[in-house]
Amino acid sequence: MTYSSVIHFFLFSIALFSVPCLSISHSPNSKPHPFLLPIKKDPATNVFYTSIGIGTPQQNFNVAIDLAGENLWYECNNHYNSSSFHPIICESNKCPKNTHACSFCQGQFRPGCTNNTCGTTNYNPLAQVLFPGDLAEDVVSISQNQVFGVSSGCTNSDGFNGLLEKLPKSSQGIIGLARSQLALPTQLALLKKLPPKFSLCLPSSNNIGFTNLLIGTEEHPLSKYMQTTPLILNPVDTGPEFEEGVPSTEHFIDVTSVKIDGQVVNLKPSLLSIKKDGNGGTRMSTMTRFAELQSSVYKPFILDFIKKASDRRMKRVASVAPFEACFDVTTIGNSRTGLAVPSIDLVLRGGAVWTIHGANSMVMVKKNVACLGFVDGGTIGTMSFVKASIVLGAHQLEENLLMFDLASNKFSFSSSLLLHNASCSNF
Ligand SMILES: *[C@@H]1O[C@H](CO)[C@@H](O)[C@H](O)[C@H]1NC(C)=O
Ligand SMILES: *[C@@H]1O[C@H](CO)[C@@H](O)[C@H](O)[C@H]1NC(C)=O
Ligand SMILES: *[C@@H]1O[C@H](CO)[C@@H](O)[C@H](O)[C@H]1NC(C)=O
Repeated sequence: MTYSSVIHFFLFSIALFSVPCLSISHSPNSKPHPFLLPIKKDPATNVFYTSIGIGTPQQNFNVAIDLAGENLWYECNNHYNSSSFHPIICESNKCPKNTHACSFCQGQFRPGCTNNTCGTTNYNPLAQVLFPGDLAEDVVSISQNQVFGVSSGCTNSDGFNGLLEKLPKSSQGIIGLARSQLALPTQLALLKKLPPKFSLCLPSSNNIGFTNLLIGTEEHPLSKYMQTTPLILNPVDTGPEFEEGVPSTEHFIDVTSVKIDGQVVNLKPSLLSIKKDGNGGTRMSTMTRFAELQSSVYKPFILDFIKKASDRRMKRVASVAPFEACFDVTTIGNSRTGLAVPSIDLVLRGGAVWTIHGANSMVMVKKNVACLGFVDGGTIGTMSFVKASIVLGAHQLEENLLMFDLASNKFSFSSSLLLHNASCSNF
């Protein structure tokens, strides 16, 4: 049976766990319900997306999933109208304090054409472009649950090129999952009195359906396989609009060492930690396909991997850009977790270990050739953009259950679910 024949399902849910002690005195019906959104993988771009209903009448928008995105935004072109659309007035308390833009429009009132409206910047990280938009409240519908008063950004793309560039063809915006005021998990937690938690499980192949296995459950069936490490705050803004003195809203974890087949890669700990200027650290990205390691981490890492691969008698073949370490697949065995290649352990603060197996480390680039799916992320930039030591890409995150607890700053992860005969679509 191939992966594509498996029914994939995804889960991004807020508050899988209610507070057990406090909820005892309540009737079961008063338990907060998690929200479940199916995740799909676009075969053309390999970008993950989900669908959200917005406005009245409800229109369903496919939105690409950006773990680092700060808001929910969508394209509101001339064909879009919603009678429940309420623009947020400039300088009102719902307009974030750091917002300087205020938008006006000549013409008939509709989403994308309003006066005295709090501005947002809607970021498309794949095209690396920021677009001005309007911040507005509207009703959002997720799996038949309506939530009123959700703030999102709307950009009228008439006259703009590239708003949706490189996103899946069917997508009209982005859902951001950063630790920011405007991210949907934060807003839903506040509006629905849920704990600010969400979990994410990216399927490795396109789904053909999903099952809402987790609605109403308090415990994730796979929690027993999960390990936990702190989420780290990067004190320096890593977003597209750098702002002095504002911490990053991205989810960082602290990798203290890296092992390949059990042997520690010789890296100075300072190469991995977050520095005062915001460079360094490890972050996860759904908008980066393959892991990127800063050059000073990449070089020893790749040499050690090649050495361990040769110990396993894997035959190296010519590199296939952007990858360097490529091998003849006929010299590699198979395992439940993909090609039987040297395992990569990320040792995390507190002792948890995230093991990356073949399914998440290797990429089939052509017939009989698989390459290590880690790329050289270059050296630290001198511009305002800061660079993490390690960026784990979507390929590394697939078929791993990830949970983000933004109240207690904890990150839990399963490592490969394949190890437990499970997947994001089948627990
Ligand atoms: C959009 O909807 C509003 C409220 O229903 C209405 O007043 C307005 O005329 C509509 N605008 C367009 C361009 O259809
Ligand atoms: C915004 O205000 C201007 C000037 O008062 C007016 O001409 C325009 O129609 C208004 N636009 C909307 C969308 O209400
Ligand atoms: C997973 O499935 C394989 C093959 O079907 C079986 O041998 C193995 O015992 C199973 N492992 C677990 C942890 O269920």
